[in-house]
Amino acid sequence: MLNKFLSEKILDIENDGLKRFLKDIDCSPTSKIKIRGKELINFSSNNYLDLAGNKILEKKALCIIEKYGLSATSSRLVSGNTLIHKKLEENLALFKSKQACLVYPSGYQTNLGVISALMSYQKDACIIMDKLNHASLWDGAKLSGARIFVYQHCDMNSLEKVLKRTRNYKFKLVVTESLFSMDGDITPMDEFVNLCQQYKAISTIDEAHSTGIFGDQGKGLANSFGVADKIDIAIGTLSKAFALQGGFVCGSKTLIDFLINKSRAFIYTTAISPFLAAMTIESLKIIKESDKARAHLYNISKILKNKLKDLELDIGKSESQIIPIITGTIEETEKLSSQLLKNNIYAPSIKPPTVPKDKARIRVSLTSGHSVKDIDLLINSLK
Ligand SMILES: Cc1ncc(COP(=O)(O)O)c(C=O)c1O
Repeated sequence: MLNKFLSEKILDIENDGLKRFLKDIDCSPTSKIKIRGKELINFSSNNYLDLAGNKILEKKALCIIEKYGLSATSSRLVSGNTLIHKKLEENLALFKSKQACLVYPSGYQTNLGVISALMSYQKDACIIMDKLNHASLWDGAKLSGARIFVYQHCDMNSLEKVLKRTRNYKFKLVVTESLFSMDGDITPMDEFVNLCQQYKAISTIDEAHSTGIFGDQGKGLANSFGVADKIDIAIGTLSKAFALQGGFVCGSKTLIDFLINKSRAFIYTTAISPFLAAMTIESLKIIKESDKARAHLYNISKILKNKLKDLELDIGKSESQIIPIITGTIEETEKLSSQLLKNNIYAPSIKPPTVPKDKARIRVSLTSGHSVKDIDLLINSLK
């Protein structure tokens, strides 16, 4: 009975051309991957600073695992809170110019746990979202049960209109990504912060894709806009430039104290392993010193964007290492992706509901491990 019901649902997904498949990767994914024994240039990962294959980190991992063991074995509030978790949170808070930090097992869980906890306890509250916010931000907002308002993507005039309409709400949480994961475009952080302050709204930013890449020492876009200290809630993930696993939120001591008490996605789950916490501290040290890698990434991103524009491809408004090639239809995107695969390039198609219905795309994601030669290969294949 269950299987029959599920098979019908899967068939519907398939008929819409939206069926998802797991691909088996034969190696640890870096700027190269292997699928069925074939080596491919990987333009799909979030390993922006190429730390996933970093030899110094790999060597450190061996000593760290001996020192800290494999697992936290319980939630932070029971016996999973080790000194290394505390040290990591102190490091991350400092990095993000905030009083305190709380680490979660993933970026997804951070967004779910922070937004739902904050808003569930507020009467007269609403959440104001950028239309293209990541699924995890939406899921946190929906879980909170608060009223949700939406403004047009990265459009500060539209945000101001919504802030005016929601004037009577006592508690307003405005949520955006600083660098958008599927478009590579950027929220004007200075205008965003000014508007939040003007309308007495709480500013929340997810810097999943900009941490490590933008700002002084890779502190993120809020830092490069000079507004890091004015952001109320700064969220990040350890799974992208950090090349590890986990998520974090930084803010006031009171915010973190509240989340420790009320954020169910933090309370009712096992802490990240002390091994990962210690590894993240090492990864953070490298991130801070990665100016050369950041400059290279910026340079190859610029080269690729210019070459794609020369080919008259639609790359949206990318201002970063994330560069979409928007074909519109699912069929076109799949065709393009499989042609690239034939040329040893891995750049999978991104389909709805991850992106809007008519905006299927190849999401090219560059890392500092890519070379100008890799870019040329991609461009020649696209030609
Ligand atoms: C903007 C944004 N926030 C959060 C997440 C979730 O992070 P994680 O993969 O660490 O769960 C992602 C991941 O794709 C993301 O793009």
